[in-house]
Amino acid sequence: MRIGIIGAGNVGIGVARRLIAKGHAVMLSFCLDMDRLASTAAGLRARVGTVSEAVEFADVVVLAVPWGVVPEALSQVGTEPPQRILWDCTNALKPDLSGLAIGTETSGGEEVAKLAPWASVVKAIPPFAQMLHSPNMLIGDKRTDVFVCGDDENARTVVSRLVREIDAQPIDAGPLSLARYAEPAAMLLVTLAYARNWGPRIGMSVLRGDPAQGPLHGV
Ligand SMILES: NC(=O)c1ccc[n+]([C@@H]2O[C@H](COP(=O)([O-])OP(=O)(O)OC[C@H]3O[C@@H](n4cnc5c(N)ncnc54)[C@H](OP(=O)(O)O)[C@@H]3O)[C@@H](O)[C@H]2O)c1
Repeated sequence: MRIGIIGAGNVGIGVARRLIAKGHAVMLSFCLDMDRLASTAAGLRARVGTVSEAVEFADVVVLAVPWGVVPEALSQVGTEPPQRILWDCTNALKPDLSGLAIGTETSGGEEVAKLAPWASVVKAIPPFAQMLHSPNMLIGDKRTDVFVCGDDENARTVVSRLVREIDAQPIDAGPLSLARYAEPAAMLLVTLAYARNWGPRIGMSVLRGDPAQGPLHGV
């Protein structure tokens, strides 16, 4: 597939490197230092472009910018962007990282969808960048679960495949509104990693029973 990355920082480059290794073609965009971006891209064998060129190029656009610059980044898509799947990797963090800027009655994913009416938005917050950049994404012997929320089932399937290809475990959670609950779960991980000093090799794992295990008894 062709992947356009908006935001060539820790997450954008980590995702790009992993997807290039799986044979995808990547175009990087949106950086304050375009010379640095060009040399990073050359090292990865990725292309470089503007945000609108990356959207034009891509089958899937990855949004990986700080929450505060999401409107600025998405305003650079051009006047008539083509319909694309937009994989939203952002955390709607407050500038001081002390919590989420929005939540529970809307979500970062839904707000991104308002700013990107050209896109089929899928919210799927990847594992911590330090894990994306490490050779081994496992925690113990397990892949980190990543909730995949979006209103278009096909777009969720496509992003789930990419999540698997970066070596995480997608959980198809359903509609984009479910990001209202997935995003605070990601914030919990940020807090455990940095405020509680667990470090960034942490992630979620959801246990799911098999009905064949036997009946459950209600009260
Ligand atoms: N880091 C993590 O572990 C992690 C995990 C999951 C989700 N997230 C979320 O993913 C998103 C990206 O995080 P990150 O850690 O990758 O951030 P980052 O390393 O700071 O990267 C942000 C990218 O956006 C670019 N950028 C920022 N402001 C810009 C502007 N005004 N104009 C042009 N380019 C600009 C930066 O350019 P420069 O390089 O020139 O500064 C950089 O390439 C955030 O929403 C974050 O909450 C992060």
